[in-house]
Amino acid sequence: MTISIRPATRDDVPLILRFVRELAAFEREPDVVEATEAMLETALFEDKAAEAVIAERDGEASGFAVFFHNFSTWTGRKGLYLEDLYVTPQARGSGIGSALLRHLAGLAIERDCARFEWAVLDWNRPAIDFYTAMGAEMLSDWRIERVAGKALAQLRGPE
Ligand code: ACO
Repeated sequence: MTISIRPATRDDVPLILRFVRELAAFEREPDVVEATEAMLETALFEDKAAEAVIAERDGEASGFAVFFHNFSTWTGRKGLYLEDLYVTPQARGSGIGSALLRHLAGLAIERDCARFEWAVLDWNRPAIDFYTAMGAEMLSDWRIERVAGKALAQLRGPE
């Protein structure tokens, strides 16, 4: 069995959207994905708001990761933020997730990032166990805050 990881290309956009939808369904939000192929293509390959890598097992696309850079004032350096990590159900448990995570850790070091971090749902015990096994530390005293949609417009106030 050969596992390889390569940067995504424009041709991968339909596959990426499929993986994004499958991950959303796994995360019990099957209808939440608003992204379209056109939006992902623009974000990844024109705006470069994020990057994606595809994992192949014996030449078959079996997983992906989407990530982007954030910044930490405490360290004065950028970080690598993992937005999505996903391996297809039939390919799980064969080392693809860990290969993706190791690949991104290598990129983080190469790009002088102080941190490599992500969020995981608190009920996703298999993923939490996987991350712990890979050496990640759960930050139990931090919570994610979010403002979107109507709340975002309300927060801005009248134009
Ligand atoms: N429980 C405990 N440890 C685990 C588990 C598990 N369910 N799965 C993997 N591990 C550990 C093992 O130590 C394993 O090492 P081993 O060689 O000693 O067995 C190691 O992690 C590596 O396992 P992989 O085979 O590389 O993991 P896999 O390819 O299955 O990828 C992943 C893990 C990404 C969590 C995959 O199972 C998946 O896609 N799950 C569904 C979607 C998901 O939860 N994605 C993460 C959401 S969070 C985010 O996107 C930032």
